[in-house]
Amino acid sequence: MQEEMDRVVGHGNTPTISFMDRLPYTMATIYEVQRMGDLVPFAIPHRATEDTSLGGYHIPKGTQLMFNLSHGLLNFRYWKDHDKFRPEHFLNEDGKVFKPDHFMPFGFGKRVCLGESLARLEVFVFLASLMHRFSWRMSEEPVVWETSTVISRPPNFCVYAVSRDQELD
Ligand code: HEM
Repeated sequence: MQEEMDRVVGHGNTPTISFMDRLPYTMATIYEVQRMGDLVPFAIPHRATEDTSLGGYHIPKGTQLMFNLSHGLLNFRYWKDHDKFRPEHFLNEDGKVFKPDHFMPFGFGKRVCLGESLARLEVFVFLASLMHRFSWRMSEEPVVWETSTVISRPPNFCVYAVSRDQELD
């Protein structure tokens, strides 16, 4: 990401949203974080508003339904090295970004996440700026895992942020 941003954005500049289309590796990294982060594994509970059927199963009106979004994000059938962090999962042979249909971190259909466009911009600006300005090193502190419920939480961890200006000095 840093190599790409140094080349496209430039050292003294800020990676604003106007750069999004020109930073394929950065975008692919964000998608890979969302894939492996699997933030909302079962989306939000829904309810069938009428009798229907799906995959041969009868679903009576009023049934509570939950999507298994993790199925599309983490399944070994869909991703080469599904359990490895590889931004290349979202880059084609020409180095262009693509999003497979089973990549649905924001859900899908009429009740897809209402904040998707905002979240996409926010995550880009936040992550790209932090990566452009700083390098990150894991500390030796132990990682503390906690149980997640509806939303997956990362474990508590410590990192060092080193200003890249300092690194170049
Ligand atoms: C990376 C950040 C985010 C992720 C991964 C995410 C993911 C999701 C998912 C999976 C759902 C359930 C969709 C479904 O049931 O089919 C959802 C619903 C929703 N999200 Fe997000 N979300 C994010 C950020 C946001 C933000 C920033 C906002 C508000 C500004 C927001 C507002 C909502 C609302 C209002 C719903 C309910 C939509 C409805 O039921 O009609 N989300 N989100």
